[in-house]
This record gives sequence, structure tokens and C-alpha cells, in this order.
Amino acid sequence: MTDNTVSPRSASPTPLTVLGTGDMGSALVRAWLAAGHPVTVWNRTPARAEPLAAEGATVAASAADAVAASRLVIACLLDDASVGEALDGADLAGRDLVNLTTGTPGDARARAAWAEARGARFLDGGIMAVPPMIGDEKSGAYVFYSGSRALFEEHEDALAVPAGTRYVGDDPGFAALHDVALLSAMSGLFAGATHAFALIRRENIAPADFAPLLASWLTAMTPAVHQTAAHLESGDYTEGVVSNLAMQSAANSTLLRTAEEQGVSPELLTPYMDLMARRVAEGHGDEDGTGMIDLLAGTS
Ligand SMILES: NC(=O)c1ccc[n+]([C@@H]2O[C@H](COP(=O)([O-])OP(=O)(O)OC[C@H]3O[C@@H](n4cnc5c(N)ncnc54)[C@H](OP(=O)(O)O)[C@@H]3O)[C@@H](O)[C@H]2O)c1
Repeated sequence: MTDNTVSPRSASPTPLTVLGTGDMGSALVRAWLAAGHPVTVWNRTPARAEPLAAEGATVAASAADAVAASRLVIACLLDDASVGEALDGADLAGRDLVNLTTGTPGDARARAAWAEARGARFLDGGIMAVPPMIGDEKSGAYVFYSGSRALFEEHEDALAVPAGTRYVGDDPGFAALHDVALLSAMSGLFAGATHAFALIRRENIAPADFAPLLASWLTAMTPAVHQTAAHLESGDYTEGVVSNLAMQSAANSTLLRTAEEQGVSPELLTPYMDLMARRVAEGHGDEDGTGMIDLLAGTS
């Protein structure tokens, strides 16, 4: 995996086209314009591209015209179906298509085959940022890229302008897979925080006093993922375990009784606890939680 920081200014600004000037597409365009790249834009609803014309972008009348304007074409549309719709009828032969539209790994693989069949090189991207982070090199924004390594290497300077770049392999599905894996982990994290706030909701505890405790606790716990990775790689899920699954599973009854006492639904907690209990029941109480990954993935 290559890992680069944001480059505010490319050595020789490459002309590029951006399809989609929604919130994210507009932020990308502004970063490239600020770095001196000639940018052609197209948006299905033309009014949404107009402010960018005032800032120096060239607005194309159609997606096909926009694709014809630059070899490097960035798509940042709502979903994979909108990419297919927008590019229907555009001549992609000889183009380098970078798809920054969120989708599944399967979407990306199918879109790569679709683009290659039309004579284009294809790179998929998963943006790990919100629009205000784009073009701000201190924000930590980055994009996972996968697909054509040749395309990535040729345009790396331009791609590094709006956000850092992390190339994760030539399988076009890998950028989306990394993106969605991180977003899925975030869902679990926020589910836990949601339950925690619900527990204190009816009490005389100031949420603003509780939030820093929650944030620092979660920060202290997350390095456990490194042990999980080591266990997955060694195959020994008991090595260095300090809080084994049997103990954690037993403690779950306290978490559930507390939820009941506080009048809080346990619906966000119980699926995870059920999985834990299943692994313990299968005789793995001396492990940490790594074995639950095998239960989910069907790899045990
Ligand atoms: N915003 C974020 O925080 C964020 C973060 C990471 C990744 N992303 C991803 O970035 C992509 C764009 O997000 P956004 O925030 O820019 O969304 P947005 O503001 O809702 O913009 C959506 C864009 O898609 C276009 N579009 C929708 N359906 C279309 C169709 N059938 N044909 C052609 N164009 C179509 C819209 O055109 P109209 O203006 O004509 O509707 C607009 O340009 C999404 O895949 C999103 O998941 C966004």
C-alpha cells in the first residue's frame, strides 16, 4: 500500500474532467482549480455546476463532451447506476476513468470490466473524508484506490491534490472493500456510543461531561484491533489474552440488566452478545473475540 500526504500543488497540472458537482464533486473541483489544474465539469443539473464556472472551471454541455475534453476523467456521482447513466453514450476509448462514486466491491469490479471493454483504463476510489476536509492537507483526508496501477502511478500527483492517496491493489474491488470495512466498523462504534448515551439519557448526567469520557475510553480500546490481526495471522486466538471471552460473555448479563434498569432497549447490543455466547458455547471461552470473525465469515 502506498501512503502519500496531500500535495497542495502538482508539478505540471494535468487537465481533468469531473462528472458530478454535488457536495463532494464540487469540493474536489475546487481543490484541483486551486492547484492550477484545468478542470472541465459536467453535472446532470447544470445550475449546480455554474458556481464552479465562476471559479475557473469549464462547464461541458453533456457528459460525453466532458469526457472528450480530458484524458483523465473523475466520476463522483450518487451511486453506480448514475455512473452508468451518465457515461452511456460517452466515448471512453483511451480515457483514464477514476470512479470516486461510493459502491460495493462488486459494483467496482463490474464497472472496471465495463470501462475496459470500452477502451478505458479504470481506477476505483473510496473517499475517506467529508467535503470540508478535501484540499486541506491537515485534515487527514485520504482516498483508497484500486484497479489499474499504471493509471494510478501516472496520475498520482493529480490524485494527491484533493486528499492523500492509498493504493490498495490491482483488484478494482479492493478500494470499495477497504472503504466499506472502515465504514462498517464506524457503524459498530457509533452503535455502542448510541447505547451509552441512551443509558445516561434520563439521568442528571451532562452529556457534555460524559462525551470526553466516552471518547477517551473508545480511543484506549481500539488498539485491540492489532492483537486481533496478530491472532488472525498466527491462528492462535489465546495468545496474550487478558480479557477472555468467557469472562466478557458473563459480564454481558450486567450490561443487559443495566439497560433494563435504565429502560433502554438492548437491540443494538444483543446481536454481538449472541455471537459471543455462541463462540463460548462452542468451547472457545479462553480466547479473545477473534473467533467471532470466523463465525461471521464462515471460516471456522
Ligand atoms: N458527501 C460526503 O460526505 C461523501 C463522503 C465520502 C464519499 N462520498 C461519495 O461521493 C459521491 C457523491 O456524493 P455527494 O456528497 O457529492 O452527493 P450529492 O451532493 O448528493 O451529489 C450527487 C451527485 O450525483 C448526481 N447524480 C445523481 N443521480 C444521477 C444520475 N442518475 N445521473 C447523473 N448524475 C446523477 C447529482 O446530480 P444532480 O445535481 O443533477 O442531482 C450530483 O452531481 C457519492 O457516491 C458519495 O457516497 C460523499
